[in-house]
Amino acid sequence: MPADSTSLRPRRSCLAVPGSNPRFLEKAKGLDADQVFLDIEDAVAPLAKPDARKNIVAALNEGGWGDKIRVVRVNDWTTEWTYRDVIEVVEGAGANLDCVMLPKVQTAEQVVALDTLLTQIEKTMGLDVGRIGIEAQIENAQGLINVDAIATASPRVETIIFGPADFMASINMKSLVVGEQPPGYDVGDAYHYILMRILMAARAHDKQAIDGPYLQIRDTDGFRRVAGRSAALGFDGKWVLHPDQVAVANEVYSPRQEDYDHAENILDAYDWFTSEQGGKKGSAMLGDEMIDEASRKMALVVAAKGRAAGMTRTERWQPPAE
Ligand code: GLV
Ligand code: MG
Repeated sequence: MPADSTSLRPRRSCLAVPGSNPRFLEKAKGLDADQVFLDIEDAVAPLAKPDARKNIVAALNEGGWGDKIRVVRVNDWTTEWTYRDVIEVVEGAGANLDCVMLPKVQTAEQVVALDTLLTQIEKTMGLDVGRIGIEAQIENAQGLINVDAIATASPRVETIIFGPADFMASINMKSLVVGEQPPGYDVGDAYHYILMRILMAARAHDKQAIDGPYLQIRDTDGFRRVAGRSAALGFDGKWVLHPDQVAVANEVYSPRQEDYDHAENILDAYDWFTSEQGGKKGSAMLGDEMIDEASRKMALVVAAKGRAAGMTRTERWQPPAE
């Protein structure tokens, strides 16, 4: 199932690449993003969509993507383009594609419709049925209200993605600057509820939670600040629109080295303290910190993210000498 193949792979940086631009498609192959998504939706003008489909099929089949997760964003179901996007891309390059991203998802039925279409194409083309995953973008109030049903509408769903630009427009937020606080809102974070709602659905249903774009692409400090908020809550990654954002996202959505070392040390220490030799203790002291089963669970999360990101330990806990 798709959940085994890619959902546990890191998606710290998800690079947006307009399918209408062959030069950008080629350049994206060499960037260090965990995921690329080749776009036929909002970054591509209506008249350029037919060529974008063809460019994307060619770029996927040419290969050279390394171990990046390869995703194509199709148009949403309220347009006239979706079915042709899916059929052309999956018939043309289904074996070289990991997920289809569905934007502006509002209901579970829209996910089911994509699942059904994918299944038919996979059968027709002799592809493994169910291997191609779905990434669902939540971009309006209706989608957020239905986010649990959307997350569980198909086993293909791997990620729930916040689409801030469309979302801000859909709720009439008084701001044009994606990710920044709307003028007049001087307490807290105007995005907190939306981010948390998406994160709760993702965690409850074992999906990855992905933050959307930051459009001031020259402002890497701004990107770091905004990314830092969703990373702190527990999001798995964020869209990147420019090569300069890639390294920042990979860093922000990985644990800090000291946290990774600490997490691995908690796991080793707790393992030892709960053993026969360590005294079969349910709670114990690690330096000045009391650790117990809940500490182990928190440490597992940080350690898993660090291992997935290829981090190595720089400091190792040793059991007390006899
Ligand atoms: C992304 O699609 C967004 O609308 O922010
Ligand atoms: Mg959008």
